[in-house]
Amino acid sequence: MALILGVESSCDETAAAMVRDGTAILSNVVLSQQVHALYGGVVPELASREHIRTVIPVMRRAIEDAAVERRDIEGVAVTVGPGLVGALVVGLSAARSFAWCLDIPLLPIHHIEGHLFAVKLAYPDEPFRFVALVVSGGHTELLDVEGEGRYRRLGQTRDDAAGEVFDKVAKMTDLPYPGGPEVDRVAARGDPRRHTFPKARLGKETCDFSFSGVKTAVRYRLRDDPSLASPGNLPDLLAGFQESVVGALVENSRRALRRTGRDTIAVCGGVAANSRLRAALASMAAEEGARFLVPPRRLCTDNGAMIASAGEYALRAGRIAPPDQGASAHLPLPFIG
Ligand code: KG4
Ligand code: ZN
Repeated sequence: MALILGVESSCDETAAAMVRDGTAILSNVVLSQQVHALYGGVVPELASREHIRTVIPVMRRAIEDAAVERRDIEGVAVTVGPGLVGALVVGLSAARSFAWCLDIPLLPIHHIEGHLFAVKLAYPDEPFRFVALVVSGGHTELLDVEGEGRYRRLGQTRDDAAGEVFDKVAKMTDLPYPGGPEVDRVAARGDPRRHTFPKARLGKETCDFSFSGVKTAVRYRLRDDPSLASPGNLPDLLAGFQESVVGALVENSRRALRRTGRDTIAVCGGVAANSRLRAALASMAAEEGARFLVPPRRLCTDNGAMIASAGEYALRAGRIAPPDQGASAHLPLPFIG
């Protein structure tokens, strides 16, 4: 019966959660920083300052909401990378101090591994064995998940991450930050067939992605015809853009399923909140005769519960942070094979 506190501060969410046994969410507090809206994107220095202000109140709230005693907490899991290094060190320092005071293990978590554990939280009875499409603001990866701690990379983006292009296209069309959910909302009213965008040609065999082409294509079309950003036209433009990104994600996921022979596809990371992506992956999985695991939206975007769940595994595996544990902006996910 492991009771774990999870802390996440890799970007612009200050989050903490209490999870029991890796699957039961007792509390899940997520504070999304608003300050970045003024600048149309995350300002790293401001993110660190906001985390400093909010990390202790958010941790305290997670413990209070869970109605647990501090002395019953058995470990503190914290994201140590990848992410904004100034933001990461705030969560790490707070989590480390807490663990030190309670004399309990500090559990270092890779952010992508955290996203994978959102699948475990949502489907505690499913085997932790699937093809995973991890799509966030910083990452776009297809992984073969063979079990907890056992990941093999099948493909990744060669340039922008999927969430990054959603955010950049939103900015080009003057939609408010954060852009991804705005594009999702506006595109839902559009006709994706009015503007089509060519798919990146990376070869028939690869599960890699490239999204910089579609981003540039949107920029050029807007330059040639600024009226495409008018309220009447924007839904069609964004629906066409979204269809192109979703199409690439779904086709490579299909390829990854066929290549590995797995019978399950899971999606996680912030872009997994996208309505069109969720629907398109569900249809593809049905066509392939595969099961489709899709966590609820609040577990797809950054949160502390996924970090706590990964922490329960880290504790079981004996993966405990050394006293000089650091944070890293670029942290490779440990792979097998
Ligand atoms: O996983 P996440 O919360 O943070 C990172 O690890 O990056 O992902 C954030 C990304 C942002 O780029 C955001 O715009 C995108 O996920 N996102 C969405 C949607 N909700 C969040 N993109 C498209 N449609 C959405 N509904
Ligand atoms: Zn994330």
